Amino acid sequence: MLCIKNLQKSYHTGNKSYPVLKGIDLTVANEEFVAVMGPSGSGKSTLLNCISCYIPFDEGIITLGGQELKGLKADDMAEIRNEKLGFVFQDFMLLDGLTIKENVLVPRIIQGKADAKARKDAEELLSLFGIASIGDKYPADVSGGEKQRAAVARSLINHPLLVLADEPTGNLDSKSSRAVIQAFEDARQNLGATVFMVTHDSFAASFCDRVILLKDGMIYDMLESDHKNQERPAAFQNRLLDAIRRMSSDETFSAEKPAEKSRKGGNAR
Ligand SMILES: Nc1ncnc2c1ncn2[C@@H]1O[C@H](COP(=O)(O)OP(=O)(O)OP(=O)(O)O)[C@@H](O)[C@H]1O
Ligand SMILES: [Mg+2]
Repeated sequence: MLCIKNLQKSYHTGNKSYPVLKGIDLTVANEEFVAVMGPSGSGKSTLLNCISCYIPFDEGIITLGGQELKGLKADDMAEIRNEKLGFVFQDFMLLDGLTIKENVLVPRIIQGKADAKARKDAEELLSLFGIASIGDKYPADVSGGEKQRAAVARSLINHPLLVLADEPTGNLDSKSSRAVIQAFEDARQNLGATVFMVTHDSFAASFCDRVILLKDGMIYDMLESDHKNQERPAAFQNRLLDAIRRMSSDETFSAEKPAEKSRKGGNAR
């Protein structure tokens, strides 16, 4: 589905270059629900922005559904963003002047296909996420959790290959967060959706199949939920918190000093 090899990205200020992603390798399988966690500034949003073709990257390869994303023309990139990717943002990004149902339809409006079938699809998505009753309301008149579930519905209206979510529960209380995560789980189960989510929230991440820990622009660790043994989210969250504590206190891990790291026996993976 998504395959990333040796992704490198630097930002430039004046004639100085700041490496932010320092060789990321990862894959996301069809119908997987994957989270990325890591300290502020570790490169999580930069990683998402590279996958979504919003910013150019320096080195490496990203393929989505077998298609390489580098070197695409602007039109092709726009088409991928509208048809192959779905987006969910921390601050919902709904249009205030449109109803919830119209907001869900925006990607179809962009395609020029906001027909009766599209309206029916939008209604079905709103029902799936338990918010059918707010379809004719405006964003100002619904709760944050409802807005974000509407944004999840919008991200899915074009049946994208992959949904990218940057801190989707960042502005929500725990009950609303749970409802949004449930929406992703329902999307996976009912629609075969694949979700790649950046989050600071170990509770939200504990519902994922896999959590990637990013530190200093490199993958520090990767944890998998033990589905086979029916590990509960609470138990996975405890393992996650342990791994995050290990990562925070691990001073041997530095992508900038690989020689020193191996001398000290750092546990970069
Ligand atoms: N457009 C930019 N120009 C220059 N530097 C940038 C730019 N965007 C991000 N950075 C820097 O790159 C680093 C990684 O930023 P990024 O936004 O990817 O981090 P993040 O892990 O998403 O952090 P947060 O958890 O705070 O959202 C930071 O040091 C940031 O200041
Ligand atoms: Mg970020």
